[in-house]
Order: sequence, then structure tokens, then C-alpha cells
Amino acid sequence: MTSVLFVCLGNICRSPLAEGAFRKVMEDLGAGSRVLIDSAGTGGWHQGEAPDPRSIAVAARNGIDISAQRARQVVKADFSRFEHILAMDSSNLNNLRKLSPAEAPARLRLFLEAEGMDVPDPYYGGPAGFETVFRMVMTGAENLAAELGLGRQG
Ligand code: 4NP
Repeated sequence: MTSVLFVCLGNICRSPLAEGAFRKVMEDLGAGSRVLIDSAGTGGWHQGEAPDPRSIAVAARNGIDISAQRARQVVKADFSRFEHILAMDSSNLNNLRKLSPAEAPARLRLFLEAEGMDVPDPYYGGPAGFETVFRMVMTGAENLAAELGLGRQG
């Protein structure tokens, strides 16, 4: 089974949206049972918390319920449990590289590597930032499904 872990800093704004978007894309493709999907943060300040209300709201407006997700910090076991670990921004990616055990099998990269873009941290901004993040992670999720060959023909 393919496995994907989405990672940001706090695991309350961006990576919960990426997780929700990719889950939705997989379910719409009928591939929901063929992939393990989770999200985590490099920091642990929000451990156990629900996603930011602004992330829950933008997801809900787009027909995705992320309200049951709970934040957690990346742990060493993630680097052997997940095949793909996708960082929202280059700072998250640098932190993941430092946390990764030397021989860990997980492939680490930027989520929007092909686009050459960071998903910007919306935490201290206004609601428009969450709309932008949602659009970015939705596009990223669709591209990821195609890349991993998880479409109907995959
Ligand atoms: P996220 O956003 O990394 O997209 O979940 C943030 C959430 C919380 C903080 C920073 C970014 N914080 O500093 O608490």
C-alpha cells in the first residue's frame, strides 16, 4: 500500500488541509483503500488539537470535513512507516531532513516540488490566506494522485 504523510509546522493549518484534500481526491477516484494518508507537524505545540477553525471552514465550504483530525508531532517511526513525506514549505523540509534517521526509507520532498512552490503559512494572516492554501493543496493533491498512479487506471 502506498503511504503519504503531509507535514507542516503546527499540523493545524496547512497539512490538515492537504490531508483532507488528498483523502477527497482518493475517495472520488475510488482509491481510498489503496493509500495510507496522515499529517503531522515538525513542532509539537498544538499536539492533540483540532485543526484551526479557518482551515475547518475553508475545507467545509469545499465539501471536506477535517474537523475530526488531531494534531501530532512527527516521530522517528514516520520515516519508516511512510513511503512519501511531503513538506508544505522548504523550512519544514529542512527540519524533516534533520529529524530523519540516516537510513530511513521515506522519500522526503516539497509537496509542490513540481510547481517549485512553498505552501505559505497562513497562521498569522487573514481568511484569504486559507483560500489560497486550499487551492494550492487541492491542485497538489490532484497532481499527486496522477504521479502516484492512483487514478482509476492506476
Ligand atoms: P501550520 O501553521 O504549520 O500550517 O499548521 C502554523 C500553526 C501554528 C503555528 C505556526 C504555523 N504556531 O506558531 O503556533
